[in-house]
Amino acid sequence: MTSPSDQNLEPQSVCSPITSSAIFMVATLAPGRDSAEAVRSWCADIAGLVRSVGKRVPAGNLTCVAGFGSKAWDALFGGPRPAALHPFKEVGVAGRLAPPPPPPPPPPPGDILLHIRAEQMDLCFELATQLMAALGDAVTVVDEVQGFRYFDMRSIIGFVDGTENPVGRKAVGFTIVGDEDPAFSGGSYVMVQKYLHNMQAWNELSVEAQERVIGRTKLSDIELDDATKPSNSHSALTTITKDGEEVKILRDNMPFGRPGAGEFGTYFIGYARSPEPLELMLENMFVGRPVGNYDRLLDFSTAVTGGLFFIPSADLLEELADRVP
Ligand code: HEM
Repeated sequence: MTSPSDQNLEPQSVCSPITSSAIFMVATLAPGRDSAEAVRSWCADIAGLVRSVGKRVPAGNLTCVAGFGSKAWDALFGGPRPAALHPFKEVGVAGRLAPPPPPPPPPPPGDILLHIRAEQMDLCFELATQLMAALGDAVTVVDEVQGFRYFDMRSIIGFVDGTENPVGRKAVGFTIVGDEDPAFSGGSYVMVQKYLHNMQAWNELSVEAQERVIGRTKLSDIELDDATKPSNSHSALTTITKDGEEVKILRDNMPFGRPGAGEFGTYFIGYARSPEPLELMLENMFVGRPVGNYDRLLDFSTAVTGGLFFIPSADLLEELADRVP
């Protein structure tokens, strides 16, 4: 398998550095040919809008990643389509999504994902405003979350998040499609899930018990040794291998919430070269490895959305504007 960098196609900003702010937007495509046409021509405008807004604060590291869901791909661009793109697969077992009360029905998975990142929320906000203005009523936003960096890269549950992310060439190798799907090389797959936490139940656990849930120490963020780390810890169940090699994904989760409303959340976002590792991790978390040995973190966290999207390379994104489906 050649490395994605051999393909000379510029990926979108999938492997861009972790920032302090982010906006996650999931939108559905409005019916009709005009909407599809408007979204297609918008594809060619995204890079210019990022340049225009980002130029005003060069140190702000403004980036935007745009992705498309399976159904939307066909409606917008027709064939050929990314080999591994399919709708988000629900995983889990009835009653596993504890604690009660049961979560509200998830919103539709969505057709278009925007992952906007910058060091300052004003940059994210301005770019989101411009991108939405350019889309007009061609889409309806079904979920919009403003995420913030929480102290020293902590998730809202107090543990450092993102430590085991691959970096540099490894990050590219794990996230960017290569010659396994030549027409879509330079692309990437991304899964998003919005989680709400039961902070009262979580905070009632001792720090040691929380550490056994995550599989790492809380203050110093050191991995528990194999003798101490439970097999149902989050880090144990999200560590996967293929042909004897560990397979990683690239995460840039962000805390979000409204303390006054009692909402404390994690917006999970994971990039990978195919949906397979993302789906296996979810299966391990929700169904368990072995079955029944599910992720203890889910006793305190409820997934309320889920979506899988393909991120075309930056070059393909521009070309898609001229596609006739
Ligand atoms: C409730 C939402 C979630 C929270 C609060 C959360 C938090 C964390 C934390 C604190 C760590 C340990 C530090 C690190 O390496 O980043 C971690 C690791 C990890 N998480 Fe999550 N996570 C969540 C959901 C997910 C989901 C849905 C997936 C995959 C589908 C996932 C995949 C991973 C992976 C691959 C690791 C690294 C494991 C390792 O190599 O040790 N996480 N997560």
